[in-house]
Amino acid sequence: MSKDNQLDKKSQAWSALFSEPMSDLVKRYTASIGFDQRLWRADIAGSLAHAEMLAAQGILGSEDLAAIERGMAQIREEIEAGRFSWKLELEDVHLNIEARLTQLVGDAGKRLHTGRSRNDQVATDVRLWLRDEIDAITGLLAALQLALVDVAEPNADVILPGFTHLQVAQPVSFGHHLLAYVEMFARDAERMADVRRRTNRLPLGAAALAGTGYPLDRERVARSLGFDGVCQNSLDAVSDRDFAIEFTAAATLCMVHVSRLSEELILWMSQSFGFIDLADRFCTGSSIMPQKKNPDVPELARGKTGRVVGHLVSLVTLMKGQPLAYNKDNQEDKEPLFDTVDTLKDTLRIFAELVGGITVKPEAMERAAKRGYATATDLADYLVKKGLPFRDAHEVVAHAVKAAIAQGVDLGELPLSALQTFHPSIGEDVRPVLTLRGSLDARGVLGGTAPTQVRAQIARHRTRLAG
Ligand code: ARG
Repeated sequence: MSKDNQLDKKSQAWSALFSEPMSDLVKRYTASIGFDQRLWRADIAGSLAHAEMLAAQGILGSEDLAAIERGMAQIREEIEAGRFSWKLELEDVHLNIEARLTQLVGDAGKRLHTGRSRNDQVATDVRLWLRDEIDAITGLLAALQLALVDVAEPNADVILPGFTHLQVAQPVSFGHHLLAYVEMFARDAERMADVRRRTNRLPLGAAALAGTGYPLDRERVARSLGFDGVCQNSLDAVSDRDFAIEFTAAATLCMVHVSRLSEELILWMSQSFGFIDLADRFCTGSSIMPQKKNPDVPELARGKTGRVVGHLVSLVTLMKGQPLAYNKDNQEDKEPLFDTVDTLKDTLRIFAELVGGITVKPEAMERAAKRGYATATDLADYLVKKGLPFRDAHEVVAHAVKAAIAQGVDLGELPLSALQTFHPSIGEDVRPVLTLRGSLDARGVLGGTAPTQVRAQIARHRTRLAG
């Protein structure tokens, strides 16, 4: 028997009980090594913390600990150099690394699994890995917010039509519009921080499901791995994947926000709007229509949102109906979770760059704002200041708008005498009210679109993001 075969046989901890080997199809079906090998860093870190604690508790000898540390250092090097040979027969990342360790350091490698099961091991690995990814995502969210703030600042005074029902509603500042997304991404970051708190708990020590009789110091392992605490119920620790589901739900919302922004960028770049241009490096041409420049990146982000939503549904469905404690169903948590992380990180990274490459076309924005009677509410507010109840003012302005539409002009283009036929209290002082700028400046309420407010919000965001 070759050395490799012996290794494969020995690594199957259950093999003595079994009288027939797995078929190749079943091996392939049950193995997770094709995707869970990316957990290797977390797996080694978890094993080292466990071994160190076993030694401190007198469960493992100091030579064994030294041998495990030496072996793991070599395994790390092999994996980093791409020299590690991952074996399907060894099913998953945990058994692959443990088998190689035993091959390198002998019995010490076989002692590592004392007081541990792959059930608490994998739950620990996924939590460790996800915690670090959440930290990376938090950084990317901050970068995207900053990129949006950087574009909002010089555009605080740029006016575009604000829409409701995609109909021109009231003029808004382009900077204000972008800051709406900053708010969304700020909440996404808060959600990530919240998920992190519940993710960052140590399952190790739960063993297969019931805990272990070895006098483990779980708090020590938690501290050395940077966990905020330990999972307090062994059955729950090995079985629930709610942290992964929560994360994917937070990621889904974040992608939904990106998707809404994408939709706007796509509309704004279209000939019908013409509000912005995206840098060429984020667009592609058409193989048949030479005039085309297509906003592929936002379109893809909008499309990829669908797959993240799908991953959320997969994970929730995977969990539903599982009895306590660990079931192999949970091996299926990884691909949706990994793809969610990859998709979200790439999307956030690319959007921070894309936002920085937007060319704003203020004239086109302003022209569009002038087309839809965007200052009608301002005329109503003006009449309220003259003493009319708002409902009556609303009615008066509706008549004025109707007349303006019939003449094909904007409210501000009607002569004063014409405006006065709708209400005698309208005077010369209505002129600034009917301009886009006047309308914008008037909305100085906290959170409103007046450029003074926008600049105050920009300052607040900059302080928050720097802190
Ligand atoms: N690869 C498995 C997973 O991802 C590890 C845990 C296996 N445990 C077991 N009892 N079969 O969930």
